[in-house]
This record gives sequence, structure tokens and C-alpha cells, in this order.
Amino acid sequence: MRPSFSVVLATILVAATTAGVCSAGVELSPELNESSYLLSCPSAEQIVKEVTQAAVQRNPAVAPKLLRLHFHDCFVRGCDGSILLNSTPGNKAEKDAPPSLTLGGYEIIDEIKTKLEERCPQVVSCADIVALAARDAVSFLHGSYSLWPVPTGRKDGRISRAEEAVANIPSPFSDFATLRRRFQSKGLDVVDLVALSGAHTIGVSHCESFAKRLYNFTGKGDADPSLDKRYADFLRRKCPPKFNNGVTVEMDPNSSLSFDSHYYQVVEQHMGLFRSDAALLEDSTSAWLVDFMRNDDVFLAKFAHSVVKMGRIAGDGVEIRKHCWVVN
Ligand code: HEM
Ligand SMILES: *[C@@H]1O[C@H](CO)[C@@H](O)[C@H](O)[C@H]1NC(C)=O
Ligand SMILES: *[C@@H]1O[C@H](CO)[C@@H](O)[C@H](O)[C@H]1NC(C)=O
Ligand SMILES: *[C@@H]1O[C@H](CO)[C@@H](O)[C@H](O)[C@H]1NC(C)=O
Repeated sequence: MRPSFSVVLATILVAATTAGVCSAGVELSPELNESSYLLSCPSAEQIVKEVTQAAVQRNPAVAPKLLRLHFHDCFVRGCDGSILLNSTPGNKAEKDAPPSLTLGGYEIIDEIKTKLEERCPQVVSCADIVALAARDAVSFLHGSYSLWPVPTGRKDGRISRAEEAVANIPSPFSDFATLRRRFQSKGLDVVDLVALSGAHTIGVSHCESFAKRLYNFTGKGDADPSLDKRYADFLRRKCPPKFNNGVTVEMDPNSSLSFDSHYYQVVEQHMGLFRSDAALLEDSTSAWLVDFMRNDDVFLAKFAHSVVKMGRIAGDGVEIRKHCWVVN
């Protein structure tokens, strides 16, 4: 894709808004690079791409799941594959914590890992597979070869604790101050928060992640007044008071499989599905950024920048797992 005028403009403006804001004491791995597997496993990235593309072709709904997996991995203990570990007797793992129960795509990571172990045993980390598969899935959905670079060289961790997922993954009921704090604690600023929230341009949510906004917002049987009234009616039809636990709603109505800037339009129209989406309008800088990112070129450029940054959140990985769900 040819960088357009608006991308250049976006870069300048956003650089101006973020100048001087430095991330608070969080380590972003500088040692990751794009040639980690060049000699040790030259076909690694091609294998990830092929398996991921085939999976997304079979079922496009797995693309958002792979992207979300990368987010949940990186926000807890850094990008170290900790989200993939199974619980063991005496240890409840991240994947069994409430914020993780609606995650998916694990089987695709395992399929990729199996292929990679056949080709180059114990060379490619599960954490790198998650980062690469997220990029490849979204790129394929978008119809691009590669929407952002993925520096590699992450190691897999040996620790995964449910309570750390609860403490680190932002709740969909978060207000702006809470979101800003959670992101800041990972070395991510408000531009990153707004850009990465744009991930909700694809995928679905279960009713329980937002039902409180429809029926019991302040605990008095009321609805969230910031939610568009007609959209709230639509959501109440989809998620009646005694909704079935399996019911899902598109987060970006009628556009949940196109990776575009439509999410920001939806947020501006007070149809952001979660309180945390609506919260991006609570702060003037953030509201300005929402408006700014309604342009597809701007969104893609800013998302690419921020997702690479998220992928650098340093973990305490120490090994290359043989199987992604269990430590060596
Ligand atoms: C800003 C804070 C965030 C909050 C509070 C949040 C919360 C949520 C919730 C509650 C769901 C729906 C879960 C369900 O009920 O099925 C969801 C889905 C999703 N989230 Fe986020 N999220 C946030 C940021 C992100 C980021 C940074 C990314 C990736 C870069 C992301 C990617 C996704 C995707 C792709 C889905 C759809 C998953 C699917 O279709 O199965 N989210 N998020
Ligand atoms: C990239 O990182 C790997 C370790 O992950 C290292 O062996 C390699 O020398 C680095 N390459 C470059 C070009 O920095
Ligand atoms: C609404 O919220 C209040 C306070 O959190 C709670 O006590 C009450 O049971 C809730 N009502 C329903 C119908 O969920
Ligand atoms: C989605 O599409 C349906 C059918 O075309 C339409 O009735 C509905 O209003 C659309 N929803 C939104 C939020 O645009």
C-alpha cells in the first residue's frame, strides 16, 4: 500500500501529541528483531502464515480470536505465551480466569506448533507464534499480505496465574481513567489505547460482557444513558434479560469481519458496545483521537505502530516450549 498524505499527516500529528509522554518504567524488549529465525528455521514464518491463512479461510471468525489472544498474552507477564498454559493441580492458569473464558484460537496455535516442531524442533517460541498468527490472520482478513512487521525472538514463560489475568486485563466496564492507567502500566499511551481499541472493529462479544449497560447500569435497573437509545433497544432484543450464555453480538455492527476504521464511527455515534469503548469519548484528547482515526489509512498506520509496541511488552520467558499448553 502506498503511504498516503493522511498517513504522513497522522504520523506528524500523533508524534506531536505524544512527544514528552514517556512510558512509566515498563520494559519494551529492544532485542526482538525480524531475522530471529532466518538461519535457525527459515521456513518458520511461512509455515505460520500458511496454517493461519487456511484456518481463517475455513472460518473467518477465528481471525479476531487470534488477535485477542495476542493482547491477552502480552498484557499479563509480557508476551511470553503464558496465556496458552493449562491449569495444573494446585495452579489455576490465566486461560481459566474470567477475562479469558471467551478466548479462542488455541487449536490453531497448536496446529502451527506441531508443524514447526516437525520442521525445526524447539526453535520457534509459542509467544512468537501467537504474535505472528495475529498479524497473519488480520492481514488475510483485510486482503493484505502483511499489515505490520512482527519482530521475533520472544521466549516462553513457565508461569501462568489466573489472578494476574484478572488484575491486568481491563474490564469492559472500565472508565477512561482506569483504561489509561492499565495501558500506561504496560508502557502504552493514550494514542496506543485509542488505536488498539480499534481491534474491536472485528469480532463478537457475548451478552454478559455488556448486559449491565442495558439493564442495571447503576444497580437501579437502569440503562447506560450514554448508549444510543435505538442501539440499546436492538441489543436488548439480541440479549433479553434472561439471555442464553452462548449468544454473541458483533462489536462493529454489520462490519465485524472487515478490519477498517468503522469502529471509530460507531463509537462517535454512541454505539460502542462496551463501557470501555464509550469511555474513549470521556477525555478530550482521546475523543479527538477517535475522530482522527476514522480515516482508514490513519487507523491502519496507527494500529500497526501500537500493536508492534504491544508485542514488545517484555516477558520473563526462559525456554522454547515443545507443546504450547505445558512447560518443558
Ligand atoms: C481497551 C481495553 C479492552 C477491553 C476492556 C476489551 C474487552 C473485550 C471484551 C469484553 C470482549 C468480548 C468478549 C466476549 O464476551 O466474548 C472483547 C473482544 C475482543 N477484543 Fe477486546 N478489549 C480491550 C482491548 C483490546 C485490544 C487491545 C485488542 C487487540 C489488539 C482487543 C481485541 C479484541 C478482539 C479481536 C475481540 C473479538 C474476539 C472474538 O471475536 O472472539 N481488545 N474485548
Ligand atoms: C536478532 O536476534 C537474534 C536473537 O533472537 C540474534 O541471534 C540475531 O543476531 C539478531 N539479528 C540482528 C540482525 O540483530
Ligand atoms: C442490579 O445491581 C444491583 C447492585 O449491583 C444488584 O444488587 C441487583 O441484584 C441487580 N439486579 C439485577 C436484576 O441483576
Ligand atoms: C445492519 O444491517 C441490517 C440489515 O441490512 C439493518 O437492518 C441494520 O440497521 C444494520 N445495523 C446497523 C447498526 O447499521
